[in-house]
Amino acid sequence: MLKEFKLNIIIFLITGALTVWANNRAAILLFILVQIVAWLMYYFKQDKELSSIVKNVEQEADAANVRADDAFDKLKALINAIPSPLVYINQRGDFEVSNQYFDKLIGEKAVNVYDSVIDIHIRQILLDAFLNEKQFVRQLNHEEVDYQVLSIPLVSEDNRYNGCMLIFQDVTRVVDGEKMQKRFIADASHELRTPITSIKGMIEILNREDFDDPETAKEFHEQIEKENNRLQKIVDDLLLQSRLRSNQVYLEKTHFNLKQFFDGLIHERRQELHQANIRVILNCPSNLELDADQFRLSQVFLNLFNNAINYAKDGEIRINCSEKNNRIKIDFKDNGEGINPEILPHIFERFFRGNPARGRQNGSSGLGLAISKSIIESHDGTIDVTSEPKKGTCFTIIL
Ligand SMILES: Nc1ncnc2c1ncn2[C@@H]1O[C@H](COP(=O)(O)OP(=O)(O)OP(=O)(O)O)[C@@H](O)[C@H]1O
Ligand SMILES: [Mg+2]
Repeated sequence: MLKEFKLNIIIFLITGALTVWANNRAAILLFILVQIVAWLMYYFKQDKELSSIVKNVEQEADAANVRADDAFDKLKALINAIPSPLVYINQRGDFEVSNQYFDKLIGEKAVNVYDSVIDIHIRQILLDAFLNEKQFVRQLNHEEVDYQVLSIPLVSEDNRYNGCMLIFQDVTRVVDGEKMQKRFIADASHELRTPITSIKGMIEILNREDFDDPETAKEFHEQIEKENNRLQKIVDDLLLQSRLRSNQVYLEKTHFNLKQFFDGLIHERRQELHQANIRVILNCPSNLELDADQFRLSQVFLNLFNNAINYAKDGEIRINCSEKNNRIKIDFKDNGEGINPEILPHIFERFFRGNPARGRQNGSSGLGLAISKSIIESHDGTIDVTSEPKKGTCFTIIL
């Protein structure tokens, strides 16, 4: 452009000099005309260049906008893919960027932290995060989900507050696990403490200097032995169950006949079954074969026999075995007192006993079904129960 400007000056000087030299009107008019043409040419050229520059700038701005839209879409897709409620609250308290889980959590219509449609506890956390401008971690329980909420204030390089970001992490499973563990420790200490306290009490009496009652001493010794065996059973059962659950028990699988297996167990338990006046009806095709750890499986069924002996006296046990789609199904059914629907979902839990007082009397610890479930599951099988009070209980095992 500078070049053209210089050229115009040169034309101006030459034509000016020629006009002065010619010194007539026609030459002056020609000089003016040449000047007008030269300046018009310069002006249009300059305008054309200017408009092409403007066009370029516009194109670049458009491209930048497209790129920004693209980046925003990608960011939105990324935020939506995060399976936890997440929000960016800007300086005015508006939900500027949020994912689908957050929108669902607060209700689709809410637009900022002050919105009264938001659950009061959630709103309190959002307001605290936005107004206090501090990082924090809070616990929140909302619609049976436990969240751990992390708030991060966003500050620019020149120390200006730019709003904050919140993420709601679902920690329900962790919390449930902690609750279960606490309950387990409480139950286990309770179960262990009972026989220990009883043994301690009896030993104290036996050790008294003035104690001289051979009959009571004999009774106490028998009782101590009983409680000691009980302690041993609880500790062994607990160890076995925890090893089963952490896959530390090696299964010694063998190939065996199912009918022979049940015949053996019924024979083993014949005395107790007879005393409880229980008849066993076994319905098992003689060709059914199974690959499993016989010893562990016998633990499962011995517990089912024991339970029936305790809860289905003067009745019968029906064992039905069948095979379908390469899986073996065993129904173990009694016509005893049955189980109340409220406690039915809990019977596979550790230390669960329908009637704790009665359980303590017959020496049961409430671990039998928990162990049975772990044994069946370590064989990749399932164990389920159906029961009706006063009609009986049926355990269904699929292996
Ligand atoms: N056949 C059944 N009929 C009625 N109630 C049953 C039956 N089997 C189990 N239950 C209920 O389920 C509870 C848990 O059974 P589980 O075998 O786990 O423990 P337990 O028999 O009490 O003790 P353990 O087996 O450790 O000696 C029992 O206390 C009882 O209330
Ligand atoms: Mg039992």
